Amino acid sequence: MSNNLLKGKRGIISGALDPNSIAWKVAEKAYEQGASIVLTNAPIAMRMGEIKNLAEKINAQIIPADATNVDELNNLFTKSQEVLGGKLDFVLHSIGMSANIRKNIPYPELNYDFFMKSLDVSALSLHKMLSVAMKQDAISEWGSVVALTYIAAQRTFPFYTDMAEAKSMLESITRSFGYHYGKKRKVRINTISQSPTKTTAGSGIKGFESFFDFADQISPLGNASAESCADYCVSLFSDYTRMVTMQNLFHDGGYSFTGISDEIMDKM
Ligand SMILES: NC(=O)c1ccc[n+]([C@@H]2O[C@H](COP(=O)([O-])OP(=O)(O)OC[C@H]3O[C@@H](n4cnc5c(N)ncnc54)[C@H](O)[C@@H]3O)[C@@H](O)[C@H]2O)c1
Repeated sequence: MSNNLLKGKRGIISGALDPNSIAWKVAEKAYEQGASIVLTNAPIAMRMGEIKNLAEKINAQIIPADATNVDELNNLFTKSQEVLGGKLDFVLHSIGMSANIRKNIPYPELNYDFFMKSLDVSALSLHKMLSVAMKQDAISEWGSVVALTYIAAQRTFPFYTDMAEAKSMLESITRSFGYHYGKKRKVRINTISQSPTKTTAGSGIKGFESFFDFADQISPLGNASAESCADYCVSLFSDYTRMVTMQNLFHDGGYSFTGISDEIMDKM
């Protein structure tokens, strides 16, 4: 259903790897709501090829960029404005990666080279994107930037290891840059803290399936799907949320504020 909430708006969407990716659903929904979009992902992700199917479906160009590389980000923001025909109205940061998680390294034994890479890819990349965008004055007044995060930034989830630190940093960059970009160009920056979601990044976490079910039974509304997360992103890109900035917004069916549920009590 389209209400043309994003009619005439231009945006960059990062992180669409395959049809399960949260960013994939955001791209589909933003297009449905009238937006023109540039898709981006790390050059290595292009080789999988699936992003091309999405690009065709939503009439988008793909501009590869490693989100840790400032030159590639500069190219991404310059070319996106050329392709879309003007300044951007929204940007989605949907990027995360931890080699410590991939290799099942427990938290007390983290590999520090991997740790630094997790921080660079999953958190500093947001700073780099925003810094490039600000220098190019690439985002219109009242533009909206959304990054995806997880509640392990506030509470301990042992399997999330160094990504917990990365998400804490991501949320902090959101607040700090939200101040500076808000003052300078009235650009708003928020994070959405999403329920566990069955994607490549999500399913790479040890014990994800049982944790997914646990979260579903704790949350009064159940886990939030990738589709509903995409709807929330669209609302944050739209003009209906102009005064929301520097926030971490829980999109988790009530998980974050529930102590225990009847379903879990019955199982104890
Ligand atoms: N899946 C979950 O349970 C869940 C929950 C809360 C938050 N999130 C967050 O949502 C975001 C999207 O993840 P997803 O679950 O859709 O998984 P996904 O695996 O589909 O997306 C992760 C994306 O990051 C991209 N990426 C990795 N390194 C990159 C780099 N150097 N430069 C550019 N792109 C790079 C990957 O190519 C991929 O497209 C991530 O920030 C993730 O932490 C996911």
